[in-house]
Amino acid sequence: MARLIRNEHTGPYRIEPEDFPVGKPMFICACGLSKNMPRCDGSHKACKSEESGKVYTYEGDDRKEVTGI
Ligand code: FES
Repeated sequence: MARLIRNEHTGPYRIEPEDFPVGKPMFICACGLSKNMPRCDGSHKACKSEESGKVYTYEGDDRKEVTGI
């Protein structure tokens, strides 16, 4: 499984030290779907039903399989 992500950001995400409270984990989005970057907002749940070997695009809540890649 893979996903094509359209990202309009042109710079890095800045994470301030106060964003890392001692003893509390912080989850950084690795799926590319979070609406609250760089933090994970749970949007990755949409990826759980992706099938291995296929590529997907996401537009809002709509997921499409990409063919012909
Ligand atoms: S890893 Fe991307 S929203 Fe959780």
